[in-house]
Amino acid sequence: MRALSYRGPTRLRVVEKPRPRIEHPNDVIVRVTRAAICGSDLHLYHGLVPDTRVGSTFGHEIAGVVDEKGPSVQSLAEGDRIVIPFNIACGTCFFCLRGLFANCENSNPANDLASGCLGYSHTTGGYDGGQAEYVRVPFADVGPMKIPDDMGWDDVLFLSDILPTGYQAAEMGEIKEGETVVVFGCGPVGLFAMKSAWLLGAGRVIAVDHLDYRLEFARRFADVETINFREVDDIVVLLKEMTEGRGPDVAIDAVGLEASGSALHRLLGMMKAEAGRPTALNWAIQSVRKGGNVSIIGVYGPPWNMVAIGTAMNKGLTLRMNQCNVKRYMPHLLEHIRAGRIDAKAIITHKLPLEAAPDAYEMFARKKDDCIKCVLMPEAEAA
Ligand SMILES: NC(=O)c1ccc[n+]([C@@H]2O[C@H](COP(=O)([O-])OP(=O)(O)OC[C@H]3O[C@@H](n4cnc5c(N)ncnc54)[C@H](O)[C@@H]3O)[C@@H](O)[C@H]2O)c1
Ligand SMILES: [Zn+2]
Ligand SMILES: [Zn+2]
Repeated sequence: MRALSYRGPTRLRVVEKPRPRIEHPNDVIVRVTRAAICGSDLHLYHGLVPDTRVGSTFGHEIAGVVDEKGPSVQSLAEGDRIVIPFNIACGTCFFCLRGLFANCENSNPANDLASGCLGYSHTTGGYDGGQAEYVRVPFADVGPMKIPDDMGWDDVLFLSDILPTGYQAAEMGEIKEGETVVVFGCGPVGLFAMKSAWLLGAGRVIAVDHLDYRLEFARRFADVETINFREVDDIVVLLKEMTEGRGPDVAIDAVGLEASGSALHRLLGMMKAEAGRPTALNWAIQSVRKGGNVSIIGVYGPPWNMVAIGTAMNKGLTLRMNQCNVKRYMPHLLEHIRAGRIDAKAIITHKLPLEAAPDAYEMFARKKDDCIKCVLMPEAEAA
């Protein structure tokens, strides 16, 4: 089959690879119709995720058709159209039973952090991802959701990651009716966090980024106020001025370790003195009001970062964070899509064949061509 293959930082190729096979009775093999490129894939692409091995295939936002199933699979049949969570979760361990699918202890025995993830380095289990013609999906009775017959691939594709992720970001902010929420980052995750903040009762939503085309998109898509942090003297001071001097009630970091905006953190990152740049996170901690909530959904790598924890402690903040527990949110968010409250596919700016994946990564990484979200279609004729 054709599959994306990582060759080293910023180097990708589409190559021939063996078609995956059933390795466990609860596996399915999926013929991929859609595989999106995520902001998280950029951390892999830039060589920032430990143990990203040459030859691995990325891709964790996947929808497709069940092509083959293992003997114990009960809930799926060959030919079913499914959308697949990026977390691989067993459904029965200590963590899965508590809804913490992102922390499943049976799918990633290699460490004490996250669950296994599709296409996300050997740090999360070394599973090949779905930016390929076929992908193996373990624990197939647990994660995948069947796509209702009346819904198209693009309608539901983002239930695999970024829509639940944005929703969980807002939920972790514990927004109370009428509160002011600031969202750092106007990428796909930030956009869905903004939408979700409204659904969860926010009274005011402010979005921060430095790319004008994304700020413009956020205004249109999520009806938010926007700030370009490069055009203001001090983003923290401005956010306080906009909120009676106190700061927003809730701050969401939808940027993560590749944040712009601080020469100091850029230098420390380059020196490997910290695992990426917590610039947006520190702005969140500094700007949110005393007693407020900070929700961290942007990805940070272990082992450490220079985060303003003393400020957070003295302000009495609540910090919440995790990888998204995707499965937990899928049914509920499907209903939001069906009811038209969230038009998830509206953020797609580029649909491309698998062979264009290297160019698509480059475009998305450099934020060229007003790119918000790229979707690869390994089976280009799929409807
Ligand atoms: N926790 C999870 O389960 C989960 C799931 C998916 C994605 N993520 C993470 O969420 C983050 C965003 O993903 P995405 O797909 O939206 O990525 P993206 O790269 O499309 O968007 C990031 C945005 O942040 C902006 N930005 C950079 N520095 C900033 C700063 N200091 N303040 C405000 N904005 C800034 C960029 O200009 C860009 O528009 C990534 O770190 C990704 O890994 C986490
Ligand atoms: Zn993702
Ligand atoms: Zn589990």
